[in-house]
Amino acid sequence: MKSILKYSHYLLEEIIKPGETVIDATCGNGNDTLFLSGLVGETGEVIAFDIQEQAIDNTDQLLMENHCSNVSLVLDSHANVENYLSKDLEGKIGGAIFNLGYLPKSDKSIITQAESTVKAIDTILGYLKHEGRIILVVYYGHEGGEDEKNAILKHVMSLDQKQYSVLQYGFINQKNNPPFIIGIQKK
Ligand SMILES: C[S@@+](CC[C@H](N)C(=O)[O-])C[C@H]1O[C@@H](n2cnc3c(N)ncnc32)[C@H](O)[C@@H]1O
Repeated sequence: MKSILKYSHYLLEEIIKPGETVIDATCGNGNDTLFLSGLVGETGEVIAFDIQEQAIDNTDQLLMENHCSNVSLVLDSHANVENYLSKDLEGKIGGAIFNLGYLPKSDKSIITQAESTVKAIDTILGYLKHEGRIILVVYYGHEGGEDEKNAILKHVMSLDQKQYSVLQYGFINQKNNPPFIIGIQKK
């Protein structure tokens, strides 16, 4: 069985094609950004968001070390994602990933919040290509995490099954609030 990290990447690599535009909604230390950069290649683009300068700097460093030049780093909330997407990308975004929670080894009080996460999900859904996916890796063991998890689950469970398939993947015998995946695919 694939680990949470491996399965989140697998769900993205199954559908993202070279040349596409994709989104890392929470770039953090840049690990997913780097992965997406490799998937879309030189002719594609990754738009990567974070609200912390430290995260943008860490991601920039990782991308430079790996000679990636196809990423636009955005110091802003993913709630404002629409401001960074041109109209001609409607129906063309290959996929997006969210890693919820706080920046590892950093301030644990700066966390993703249900309201902005849900707003970003809904905006990106409008831009996804046919069979495009949004993958959320839900960490919720920290203070405030449980509220965000519950709000997001409630929201994605209410998405119209005629328009979207919604998957949940996780290990149910692990202790200490293990992360799980929510995958949303546009039909
Ligand atoms: C779990 S970390 C991401 C880890 C990252 N994927 C990696 O590979 O290192 C979550 C990140 O979300 C960021 N964040 C919190 N609220 C945000 C928002 N509204 N918009 C964009 N990023 C946000 C935090 O600053 C933090 O860096």
